[in-house]
Amino acid sequence: MCGIVGYIGEKNAVDILIDGLTKLEYRGYDSAGVAVVVDNNIKTERSAGKLINLKNKLEQSPLISNIGIGHTRWATHGKPSDENAHPHCSDHIALVHNGIIENYLELRDELINKGYKFLSETDTEAIAHLLHSLWEDNLEKTVRKAVQRLKGAYALAIISSREEGKILLARKEAPLVIGVGKNENFAASDIPAILHHTREFIFLEDGDIAIMEKDRLEIYDLNFNKVSRSVKTINWNPVMAEKAGYKHFMQKEIYEQPRAITDTIRGKYSLEDGKIYLSELEEMKGDLLSIERIQIVACGTSWHAGLVGKFLIEKFAKIPVEVDIASEYRYREPIVDEKLLFIPISQSGETADTLAALKLAKSKGAKIISICNVIGSSITRESHGTIYTHAGPEIGVASTKAFTTQLATLYMLAIYLSQLKDRLTKEERIKYVKALIKVPEEISSVLDLDHDIEMLAKNFKNYKNFLYLGRNINYPVALEGALKLKEISYIHAEGYPAGEMKHGPIALIDKNMPVLFLAINSPIYEKTLSNIEEVKARDGVVIAVASKSNNGISKKADYTIFVNDTIEETSIFLTTVVTQFFAYHCATLLGLDVDQPRNLAKSVTVE
Ligand code: M6R
Repeated sequence: MCGIVGYIGEKNAVDILIDGLTKLEYRGYDSAGVAVVVDNNIKTERSAGKLINLKNKLEQSPLISNIGIGHTRWATHGKPSDENAHPHCSDHIALVHNGIIENYLELRDELINKGYKFLSETDTEAIAHLLHSLWEDNLEKTVRKAVQRLKGAYALAIISSREEGKILLARKEAPLVIGVGKNENFAASDIPAILHHTREFIFLEDGDIAIMEKDRLEIYDLNFNKVSRSVKTINWNPVMAEKAGYKHFMQKEIYEQPRAITDTIRGKYSLEDGKIYLSELEEMKGDLLSIERIQIVACGTSWHAGLVGKFLIEKFAKIPVEVDIASEYRYREPIVDEKLLFIPISQSGETADTLAALKLAKSKGAKIISICNVIGSSITRESHGTIYTHAGPEIGVASTKAFTTQLATLYMLAIYLSQLKDRLTKEERIKYVKALIKVPEEISSVLDLDHDIEMLAKNFKNYKNFLYLGRNINYPVALEGALKLKEISYIHAEGYPAGEMKHGPIALIDKNMPVLFLAINSPIYEKTLSNIEEVKARDGVVIAVASKSNNGISKKADYTIFVNDTIEETSIFLTTVVTQFFAYHCATLLGLDVDQPRNLAKSVTVE
């Protein structure tokens, strides 16, 4: 999705903007641009394609200024082109925008009637002309008037050559943060863009308008009352957001999983009594005691984590759980009451569909506990409580460590709820907690299989289709494995419950359809073996991911990757990492850009 960076201070803004936009590349984009004020004039440079095109233009004609705004655009209205790239200008005004203005056609017609000429196909240009048409004394008064005319979602950074010393910021349903510095201030849609410059952040709230000068910040709320927003310190280390010697962010993030899970579970369990301590939910304990149902709502990989969560919560806490895709949930009539616990799961905390589903459930009285990786993000701010995953910044578009830390969080939440409802014995809890704290070590043992899985990928990278099959808790892992393969290697892959194969997918089986089985030891392992026989009988090619103790499986499968024996409930961490490596190696062997796959954005902040 689009990225925003803004700077005002004493340094050259363009360097800071380009550096920030580079840090936001992972969000996905197809054009980029900057605008600065030079000698009382707005100067812009924009270019379709990757940032290198913009950098080349800036090398030819450098821009030097202490104030500027920059943008990476992911096309929604109008194709990727120089003209559609942000910033968009109207005479002395320039702005960058994330989000979608729903009434832009109406505004456009109105502004054309007033004599404005549109040079792009974007909704954003209408905001620039609207600001110009409403200009009144100064930028803040004008922005206040203009935002009242906007319908839809926006994060805006606006400059005017008539007021060289300020950047105006405004947000509604799209993220925007201020990075607080000394004699300088920064703005960004996402923390990693400016993490090199400051650790102090202000998260603007919906409806906020901020006036940002180099040594002054003023924030006004929806009703134009001056407000103070707290400054939060973010402890992410900037090195955590860089590749640290790995070839790709995705590779680094796969390898970071033992650390990420250790951080996520740290201080939250006791081996003595097998209890999970979630201090962040302490104030909600009373509410949680009375809940009767749970709905987990999310998108993509986070939805797959939700499916695992259903298995764990129903097994440990015996509370009924429904799992929904956020974009479906928000447009149907879900049954919600005050006895419902609603759990949105989101790495970014900014996914528009998940946020909208949350707001819907909240408006109907549900209690909201989000599972999220980004502190202060929109979803956490709307929730009654949040359990943070401590994955650290996830830059690769394909989610890896965010997923496994979500699984660890759901595992803890399931035990925590079982405690409240008294559904597991102490011995059972101790068994499950012991298994959880072994997960980082067990994942490390799968990291040792990296080379073996790369060799396997060499044999399979040229296949056009794949089936991923699993049962029980490994069925969502099959879905997640197939999604990983699709999104970064562009190989078509489908995930299914293995028992469902004979109800349709088996018709696809022939020598050109490899089937990856998550054939982990479980009470229904034998049934998975029968499914493997069914595939072999139809000339299918079988890859099995199996438990070491079941070594006989290698006689049935064509290729087997063995992982350590664990309980079924934690096997998902191991099988997940195998499928992450498999997708990663297929994609890199095909020479594809795994960190920024085509058409995808890291954070989907529009519908
Ligand atoms: O930030 P979120 O967890 O809300 O994002 C949800 C999905 O957009 C995300 O998981 C997406 O499916 C990833 N590309 C998966 O790798």
